[in-house]
Amino acid sequence: KVPIITVDGPSGAGKGTLSCMLAEAYKWHFLDSGAIYRVLSVAALHHDISFSDTAGLTPLASGLDVTFSVTEAGNRIILEGEDVTDDIRSEEVGDAASQIASIPLVREALLRRQRAFRELPGLVADGRDMGTVVFPDANVKIFLIASAEIRAERRYQQLKALGRDVKISRLLSDIQARDDRDRNRKTAPLIAAKDAFVLDSSDLNIKQVFEKAKNYADS
Ligand code: CDP
Repeated sequence: KVPIITVDGPSGAGKGTLSCMLAEAYKWHFLDSGAIYRVLSVAALHHDISFSDTAGLTPLASGLDVTFSVTEAGNRIILEGEDVTDDIRSEEVGDAASQIASIPLVREALLRRQRAFRELPGLVADGRDMGTVVFPDANVKIFLIASAEIRAERRYQQLKALGRDVKISRLLSDIQARDDRDRNRKTAPLIAAKDAFVLDSSDLNIKQVFEKAKNYADS
């Protein structure tokens, strides 16, 4: 069976960075499941389907024409022939993704697509429900957390480096709203799997987080 490490946790805890480092270290595949929800939101915008229209979103999700390709220009995400790699990263799309992700039929329609990433030699899967719903039989499960204040501060520094002028109080309230929605939804709520290692990154830098996670994975 193809080995899997799952990395779940709230928005902005550093799952993406950690997952990429683990995938790199083991030379395994990488699934950014949040990107799939984000791409679906962009597809909904293109097709004028509202973020609460279950009957419209479900077939869109099961037939989503998306490819994740590795090119010289890095990893590119192509939706219906169009490169949406940068578009999907906006705060608006993230917010839409979190709304769409609260619809059970949409989540179900995306299960097979996510499981198809499980290929040799192995997979690192990043998301909210990787260890609980999508890959419950994963070999190693990590639940990465950090306080909302620290996550807001990290995002603030990222955006500042990009020259964006944002208020930290706004980032904090956005993060708290996203946390609430992810935790309180009925299907696949954000919760650590029973057999997950809970890793709090509030007082750790990324190198320390990676080393702890790798120790769990190798144990
Ligand atoms: O971490 P961040 O919120 O910035 O974004 P993301 O990981 O790209 O995910 C975007 C949204 O998709 C999240 O707010 C979740 O609500 C949702 N999501 C989910 O429900 N299940 C997943 N496996 C991944 C993402």
